[in-house]
Amino acid sequence: GSLQNGDGQYQGLGQDFTKHVIASMGEDTNPRLRQILASFIQHIHDFAREVDLTTDEWMAGVQMINWAGQMSNDRRNEGQLLCDVIGLESLVDDITNRVATRNGNPGTATAILGPFWRADTPVRANGSTIVTKCPDDGEVALMHGQVTCSNTGKPLANTSVDVWQASTNGLYEQQDADQPEHNLRGKFMTDEEGRYSFYCLRPTPYPVPSDGPAGKLLGLLHRHPYRPAHIHLIVQAEGFQSVTTQIFDESSKYLDDDSVFAVKDGLTVKFADRKGDPKASLELEYNIKLVPT
Ligand code: BEZ
Ligand code: FE
Repeated sequence: GSLQNGDGQYQGLGQDFTKHVIASMGEDTNPRLRQILASFIQHIHDFAREVDLTTDEWMAGVQMINWAGQMSNDRRNEGQLLCDVIGLESLVDDITNRVATRNGNPGTATAILGPFWRADTPVRANGSTIVTKCPDDGEVALMHGQVTCSNTGKPLANTSVDVWQASTNGLYEQQDADQPEHNLRGKFMTDEEGRYSFYCLRPTPYPVPSDGPAGKLLGLLHRHPYRPAHIHLIVQAEGFQSVTTQIFDESSKYLDDDSVFAVKDGLTVKFADRKGDPKASLELEYNIKLVPT
């Protein structure tokens, strides 16, 4: 389309330009990719027009993305972290798992995976510990519970419960040379009654990594980097939708201002005192409901 109106006045690149860019996709483009990219181009063009984005501002954004790429490796995913601090991972998690409650009874609510899960977590025996190195200020808790079907209430045997948490210094083991490999993580298989149990630490709040572009952005927005105290879980059983989630200590700071917006109703838990167990002063019962596929 013409960039000039009838009076010869410059109009700028408007909707005709955006349509032209979207129409440049080839006929054989994957239909889902076409849908996503057409919408993305439409929104990002409209966004640039709406805020009158300048070349310098656009380049600052490009440099932030490049910086995130340079900082990322198999122990650090800065692109994901940038998405997290603007709520995008939480939103996408919610959209992805809306289906979990579509039919029948709702299962356990999901929450974001975050960047610190490891695929090679060791399977450990029920009743054992994920605390292979206990920090001086660590409080040990016995966490246990039952996994059941959300529709029938039947216990789900042979379900994997994969857990990970940060130590009291705020670091996951892969971020911290002073923690043994796989400290504070483990995978547990439920027994015939759908039960799992393990010793862990009472979680403590920690800051997301703030020495890169996500931290820079938080600073520019006058925000703190902290997350409320939480334990991560992935629960998977054959024939059921798997659940990636986090449980939050109800007495933690930052429940209302999680830097990555992951806290949801129904995911807060209460630690209780545990008597007569030399291994733990606290106890946490957490039952999980899975939705059949
Ligand atoms: C986490 O909880 O491990 C996490 C989530 C998002 C960003 C950084 C850390
Ligand atoms: Fe975490």
